[in-house]
Amino acid sequence: VRWYIDGSNISGAVEVPGDKSIGHRALMIAALASGASRIRNLPDGGDVRSTECCLVQCGVTVQRSPNTVSVIPPDDLHVPDGPLDAGNSGTTMRLLSGILAGLPGSARLIGDDSLSRRPMERVAEPLRRMGANIVTRGGYPPLQIDGGNLRAINYDLPVASAQVKSAILLAGLFVDGQTSVTEPVLSRDHTERMLGSLGVDICRNGKTVAVSGGHRPHAFEMTVPGDASSAAFFLCAAALTGGPVTVRNVGLNETRAGLLRVLERMGTRVVVTGERVELGEPVGDVTVSGRVSKPVTVEADEVPRLIDEIPLVALLATQASGPSLIRGAAELRVKESDRLRATAEILRAFGATVRELPDGLEIMGGTVLTGARITSHGDHRMAMLGAVAGCVARGQTVIEGAEASSISYPGFTSAWRSIGGVIDVA
Ligand code: S3P
Repeated sequence: VRWYIDGSNISGAVEVPGDKSIGHRALMIAALASGASRIRNLPDGGDVRSTECCLVQCGVTVQRSPNTVSVIPPDDLHVPDGPLDAGNSGTTMRLLSGILAGLPGSARLIGDDSLSRRPMERVAEPLRRMGANIVTRGGYPPLQIDGGNLRAINYDLPVASAQVKSAILLAGLFVDGQTSVTEPVLSRDHTERMLGSLGVDICRNGKTVAVSGGHRPHAFEMTVPGDASSAAFFLCAAALTGGPVTVRNVGLNETRAGLLRVLERMGTRVVVTGERVELGEPVGDVTVSGRVSKPVTVEADEVPRLIDEIPLVALLATQASGPSLIRGAAELRVKESDRLRATAEILRAFGATVRELPDGLEIMGGTVLTGARITSHGDHRMAMLGAVAGCVARGQTVIEGAEASSISYPGFTSAWRSIGGVIDVA
């Protein structure tokens, strides 16, 4: 699929699909819960579908009605005979590994070409320490997991990773006793918030979080907050064109809100209204107006809070009044694509001056972007980055491989049009 994007004024109000991270967790935690749960606004993208399919293979019943997904756990969650396919989804593979480590039996986890190139030793290693037997293909998928009979550990994460932290916490549910994880920098904390809201004993102390196992989470009803990482495309389009753009009912969890802080530092106006809490997660309406002006520096201690938004920060930086620097972001090289390389390549195609560092990007400001022909690198976020760049570029932009966007945001093109974006699909 190709997208043709033209320059446009972006303004208005949108809602975005439910948060992908929270969606995966809601399904998995519902599968472990003490009864049937109901989830509203579950995102419909490919990644969360991958989690759903895997859980169904493990005996979970999932019923979909237009607005609500019901999840009915079986009496005995079990490992299926055939392989579990995580598709493109690192979150599915890594979080599910934690659950499979806790179940008796032998599970095999596979993924698509992109996922098969992503590092899995980071999750295998702590789960082995807990007692699971895990074989990888040289550190990469497929994974073979022989689980059951886990023991508690206290684990120091070498890299800040919510996926690895969550895998250990989920495995910890199967253990009698307290399992703890300490991170170098706090990553998104959706798993611990959700478990803590559902009666599981969760204890946080600085960058350490501990779970006490042996109890099932309560069954629950929730409305998944809008995805802050999907909202980011529209808010950044506002920050490039002047906006204003409002995204309604979006997640405001601080461990995901790094982009809002960067937008403020770069000189745009960010206003939050109608804040409330949904199963431990803050939600509200965010409005961004005014163009970015100032350059920005993003360092390692901030990176986890905007890990998936860094390509957008680099795009914003092309319009700042001076050079910007992003460092401590080497993790971006092991996402759905090498996002440091892909971002540098894409922005250069638009005429930006970008230097790729081993762990970040240096971006010159004050660039006039010109329409370009780019590829998504098979990466959903890169396809949508191209669309946002295209709305401030002179001339037309063509994005090849735009179908990748359906991994997190199947309805992106209609939402984009609803705020004035000009996009043709072929
Ligand atoms: C995610 C955590 C992050 C993020 C990914 C989703 C999650 O990955 O990049 O898109 O749902 O836990 P890491 O845990 O590898 O940092």
